[in-house]
Amino acid sequence: MRHNNIKSLTWIIIAGTGIVFSILANSCAESQKVAGKTGVQLWAENCQRCHNTPSPNTFSHDQWVTIGMHMQTRAQLTDKERDKIVAFLNQ
Ligand code: HEC
Repeated sequence: MRHNNIKSLTWIIIAGTGIVFSILANSCAESQKVAGKTGVQLWAENCQRCHNTPSPNTFSHDQWVTIGMHMQTRAQLTDKERDKIVAFLNQ
């Protein structure tokens, strides 16, 4: 009986470790997916959701920086994502 308990405990630990590793691997893949996105991808995915986005040459560099800050909160972007989008719009 005692022997059996140790055996099942071992299995629980093995299974638990496996689950933790697969969660870690998954979240890594997820953040790499976001990090791998270009400005134009992020722009296409986030900025057309609420309105038609004006083309890059509609605004000056400074205006895009300001708009980027305003729309970052609306689109719930990270600083990095916002920077990529603004860089794309300022090309
Ligand atoms: C959650 C909805 C939402 C998302 C997502 C969003 N916007 Fe907007 N956007 C708005 C609203 C509402 C306005 C009009 C009010 C304002 O100017 O704040 C606006 C206005 C604008 C304007 C006009 C500003 C001006 O001064 O004329 C631009 C340009 C713009 N958005 C660009 C973007 C870009 C670029 C993104 C992606 C990073 C984006 N928006 C994402 C809601 C959104």
